[in-house]
Amino acid sequence: MKLFIDTADVAQIREAWSWGILDGVTTNPTHVSKTGRKPGEVYREILDIVDCPVSLETVTLHAPEIVAEGRELAKMHRNVVVKVPLIKEGLKAVKVLSVEGIKTNVTVTFSPLQALLAAKCGATYISPFVGRLDAIGHFGMDVARQTKVIYDNYGFSTEIIVAAVRHPTHVLEAALAGADICTMSFDILSQLYDHPLTDIGIDLFLKDWARVPK
Ligand code: E4P
Repeated sequence: MKLFIDTADVAQIREAWSWGILDGVTTNPTHVSKTGRKPGEVYREILDIVDCPVSLETVTLHAPEIVAEGRELAKMHRNVVVKVPLIKEGLKAVKVLSVEGIKTNVTVTFSPLQALLAAKCGATYISPFVGRLDAIGHFGMDVARQTKVIYDNYGFSTEIIVAAVRHPTHVLEAALAGADICTMSFDILSQLYDHPLTDIGIDLFLKDWARVPK
Protein backbone atom coordinates (compact mmCIF):
# COMPACT_ATOMS: atom_id res chain seq x y z
CA MET A 1 0.00 0.00 0.00
CA LYS A 2 1.30 3.45 -0.88
CA LEU A 3 1.59 6.01 1.92
CA PHE A 4 0.68 9.65 1.30
CA ILE A 5 0.99 12.58 3.70
CA ASP A 6 -2.08 14.79 4.11
CA THR A 7 -0.81 18.30 4.82
CA ALA A 8 0.40 21.55 3.27
CA ASP A 9 3.08 22.04 5.92
CA VAL A 10 6.33 22.10 3.94
CA ALA A 11 8.54 21.32 6.95
CA GLN A 12 6.53 18.16 7.63
CA ILE A 13 6.60 17.18 3.95
CA ARG A 14 10.39 17.74 3.75
CA GLU A 15 10.96 15.62 6.88
CA ALA A 16 8.62 12.78 5.79
CA TRP A 17 10.17 12.75 2.30
CA SER A 18 13.60 12.19 3.90
CA TRP A 19 12.33 8.93 5.47
CA GLY A 20 12.15 7.16 2.10
CA ILE A 21 8.64 5.78 2.56
CA LEU A 22 6.53 8.63 1.18
CA ASP A 23 4.63 7.96 -2.06
CA GLY A 24 2.54 11.12 -2.39
CA VAL A 25 1.08 14.29 -0.88
CA THR A 26 -2.55 15.36 -0.53
CA THR A 27 -3.46 18.92 0.35
CA ASN A 28 -6.81 20.60 0.83
CA PRO A 29 -8.02 24.20 1.38
CA THR A 30 -8.03 23.74 5.17
CA HIS A 31 -4.40 22.61 5.18
CA VAL A 32 -3.39 25.53 2.94
CA SER A 33 -5.25 28.07 5.10
CA LYS A 34 -3.36 26.79 8.17
CA THR A 35 -0.03 27.74 6.55
CA GLY A 36 -1.08 31.41 6.34
CA ARG A 37 0.73 31.56 2.99
CA LYS A 38 -0.33 32.09 -0.64
CA PRO A 39 -1.43 28.80 -2.24
CA GLY A 40 0.77 29.14 -5.35
CA GLU A 41 3.85 29.70 -3.19
CA VAL A 42 3.07 26.68 -0.97
CA TYR A 43 2.30 24.44 -3.96
CA ARG A 44 5.54 25.36 -5.75
CA GLU A 45 7.57 24.62 -2.62
CA ILE A 46 5.90 21.21 -2.13
CA LEU A 47 6.48 20.34 -5.80
CA ASP A 48 10.16 21.23 -5.38
CA ILE A 49 10.58 19.04 -2.29
CA VAL A 50 9.00 15.79 -3.47
CA ASP A 51 8.96 13.77 -6.68
CA CYS A 52 5.63 11.97 -6.38
CA PRO A 53 1.93 12.75 -6.97
CA VAL A 54 0.77 15.96 -5.23
CA SER A 55 -2.98 16.58 -5.01
CA LEU A 56 -4.00 20.25 -5.22
CA GLU A 57 -7.69 21.04 -4.68
CA THR A 58 -10.01 23.08 -6.89
CA VAL A 59 -12.29 25.56 -5.11
CA THR A 60 -15.07 26.30 -7.60
CA LEU A 61 -18.39 24.50 -8.04
CA HIS A 62 -19.22 24.62 -11.77
CA ALA A 63 -17.65 22.29 -14.32
CA PRO A 64 -16.18 24.96 -16.67
CA GLU A 65 -14.51 26.76 -13.75
CA ILE A 66 -13.28 23.50 -12.22
CA VAL A 67 -11.81 22.49 -15.59
CA ALA A 68 -10.10 25.90 -15.94
CA GLU A 69 -8.70 25.65 -12.41
CA GLY A 70 -7.57 22.10 -13.03
CA ARG A 71 -5.77 23.03 -16.24
CA GLU A 72 -3.93 25.87 -14.48
CA LEU A 73 -2.91 23.64 -11.56
CA ALA A 74 -1.77 20.87 -13.91
CA LYS A 75 0.47 23.33 -15.77
CA MET A 76 2.52 23.86 -12.60
CA HIS A 77 4.25 20.45 -12.67
CA ARG A 78 3.98 16.92 -14.09
CA ASN A 79 3.33 15.59 -10.54
CA VAL A 80 0.17 17.65 -9.99
CA VAL A 81 -3.06 15.74 -9.41
CA VAL A 82 -6.19 17.91 -9.55
CA LYS A 83 -8.44 17.34 -6.56
CA VAL A 84 -12.13 17.72 -7.39
CA PRO A 85 -15.17 17.39 -5.10
CA LEU A 86 -17.67 14.60 -5.66
CA ILE A 87 -20.60 16.59 -7.03
CA LYS A 88 -22.20 16.37 -10.50
CA GLU A 89 -20.30 19.41 -11.74
CA GLY A 90 -17.11 18.01 -10.27
CA LEU A 91 -17.47 14.70 -12.09
CA LYS A 92 -18.32 16.48 -15.35
CA ALA A 93 -15.00 18.29 -14.94
CA VAL A 94 -13.19 15.04 -14.11
CA LYS A 95 -14.41 13.56 -17.38
CA VAL A 96 -13.02 16.50 -19.37
CA LEU A 97 -9.73 16.60 -17.46
CA SER A 98 -9.22 12.85 -17.76
CA VAL A 99 -9.74 12.96 -21.55
CA GLU A 100 -7.01 15.65 -21.61
CA GLY A 101 -4.68 13.35 -19.67
CA ILE A 102 -4.83 15.42 -16.48
CA LYS A 103 -4.79 13.29 -13.32
CA THR A 104 -7.62 13.76 -10.83
CA ASN A 105 -8.35 12.86 -7.21
CA VAL A 106 -12.08 12.86 -6.44
CA THR A 107 -12.51 14.00 -2.86
CA VAL A 108 -15.16 14.42 -0.14
CA THR A 109 -16.47 10.95 -0.97
CA PHE A 110 -18.69 9.02 1.43
CA SER A 111 -20.31 6.15 -0.50
CA PRO A 112 -19.26 3.32 -2.82
CA LEU A 113 -21.82 4.41 -5.41
CA GLN A 114 -20.26 7.88 -5.51
CA ALA A 115 -16.95 6.06 -6.04
CA LEU A 116 -18.48 4.11 -8.95
CA LEU A 117 -19.53 7.37 -10.64
CA ALA A 118 -16.05 8.86 -10.21
CA ALA A 119 -14.44 5.78 -11.78
CA LYS A 120 -16.85 5.94 -14.72
CA CYS A 121 -15.68 9.52 -15.36
CA GLY A 122 -12.04 8.41 -15.45
CA ALA A 123 -10.86 9.57 -12.02
CA THR A 124 -7.25 8.61 -11.31
CA TYR A 125 -7.92 8.43 -7.56
CA ILE A 126 -10.96 8.30 -5.27
CA SER A 127 -10.73 9.49 -1.67
CA PRO A 128 -13.30 8.06 0.77
CA PHE A 129 -13.21 10.02 4.06
CA VAL A 130 -13.41 7.16 6.55
CA GLY A 131 -12.84 9.09 9.80
CA ARG A 132 -15.66 11.54 9.12
CA LEU A 133 -18.05 8.60 8.63
CA ASP A 134 -16.87 6.94 11.85
CA ALA A 135 -17.56 10.26 13.60
CA ILE A 136 -21.26 10.04 12.74
CA GLY A 137 -21.64 6.40 13.77
CA HIS A 138 -20.94 4.65 10.45
CA PHE A 139 -18.20 2.13 9.64
CA GLY A 140 -16.13 4.37 7.36
CA MET A 141 -13.80 1.63 6.19
CA ASP A 142 -16.79 -0.25 4.69
CA VAL A 143 -16.84 2.39 1.94
CA ALA A 144 -13.25 1.55 1.00
CA ARG A 145 -13.93 -2.20 1.16
CA GLN A 146 -17.09 -1.99 -0.98
CA THR A 147 -15.44 0.38 -3.44
CA LYS A 148 -12.60 -2.12 -3.86
CA VAL A 149 -15.09 -4.91 -4.66
CA ILE A 150 -16.88 -2.73 -7.23
CA TYR A 151 -13.62 -1.60 -8.88
CA ASP A 152 -12.35 -5.20 -9.00
CA ASN A 153 -15.69 -6.50 -10.36
CA TYR A 154 -15.57 -4.14 -13.31
CA GLY A 155 -11.83 -3.65 -13.82
CA PHE A 156 -11.69 0.08 -13.03
CA SER A 157 -8.14 1.39 -12.69
CA THR A 158 -9.10 4.24 -10.31
CA GLU A 159 -6.93 3.94 -7.19
CA ILE A 160 -8.51 4.08 -3.74
CA ILE A 161 -6.99 6.59 -1.30
CA VAL A 162 -8.30 5.96 2.23
CA ALA A 163 -8.51 9.49 3.65
CA ALA A 164 -9.52 11.33 6.83
CA VAL A 165 -7.71 8.70 8.87
CA ARG A 166 -7.57 9.26 12.59
CA HIS A 167 -5.14 6.66 13.97
CA PRO A 168 -2.70 3.91 12.91
CA THR A 169 -5.46 1.26 13.12
CA HIS A 170 -7.19 3.00 10.21
CA VAL A 171 -3.95 2.53 8.24
CA LEU A 172 -3.87 -1.16 9.15
CA GLU A 173 -7.53 -1.60 8.16
CA ALA A 174 -6.88 0.20 4.86
CA ALA A 175 -4.00 -2.17 4.07
CA LEU A 176 -6.07 -5.22 5.02
CA ALA A 177 -8.92 -3.94 2.83
CA GLY A 178 -6.49 -3.81 -0.11
CA ALA A 179 -6.69 -0.03 -0.55
CA ASP A 180 -4.10 1.26 -3.01
CA ILE A 181 -3.13 4.22 -0.84
CA CYS A 182 -3.70 5.65 2.63
CA THR A 183 -3.18 9.38 3.24
CA MET A 184 -2.55 10.58 6.77
CA SER A 185 -1.18 13.35 8.97
CA PHE A 186 2.53 13.67 9.77
CA ASP A 187 1.85 12.46 13.33
CA ILE A 188 0.10 9.25 12.21
CA LEU A 189 2.79 8.56 9.61
CA SER A 190 5.39 8.93 12.34
CA GLN A 191 3.46 6.69 14.75
CA LEU A 192 3.67 3.81 12.25
CA TYR A 193 7.33 3.39 13.25
CA ASP A 194 6.64 3.14 16.97
CA HIS A 195 6.29 0.09 19.20
CA PRO A 196 7.17 0.08 22.92
CA LEU A 197 8.72 -3.40 22.63
CA THR A 198 11.06 -2.10 19.93
CA ASP A 199 12.33 0.61 22.33
CA ILE A 200 12.65 -1.88 25.23
CA GLY A 201 14.38 -4.41 22.97
CA ILE A 202 16.96 -1.89 21.70
CA ASP A 203 17.59 -0.62 25.23
CA LEU A 204 18.26 -4.18 26.46
CA PHE A 205 20.61 -4.98 23.54
CA LEU A 206 22.62 -1.78 24.12
CA LYS A 207 22.88 -2.45 27.89
CA ASP A 208 24.10 -6.02 27.21
CA TRP A 209 26.54 -4.74 24.57
CA ALA A 210 28.01 -2.34 27.14
CA ARG A 211 28.95 -5.41 29.28
CA VAL A 212 30.74 -7.15 26.37
CA PRO A 213 34.56 -6.99 26.87
CA LYS A 214 36.19 -4.75 24.21
C1 E4P B 1 -7.75 13.87 1.97
O1 E4P B 1 -7.28 14.01 0.86
C2 E4P B 1 -8.25 15.00 2.78
O2 E4P B 1 -7.39 16.09 2.64
C3 E4P B 1 -8.34 14.70 4.25
O3 E4P B 1 -8.08 13.38 4.58
C4 E4P B 1 -9.54 15.36 4.83
O4 E4P B 1 -9.95 14.79 5.99
P1 E4P B 1 -10.02 15.44 7.43
O5 E4P B 1 -9.98 16.94 7.27
O6 E4P B 1 -11.32 14.98 8.01
O7 E4P B 1 -8.82 14.92 8.15
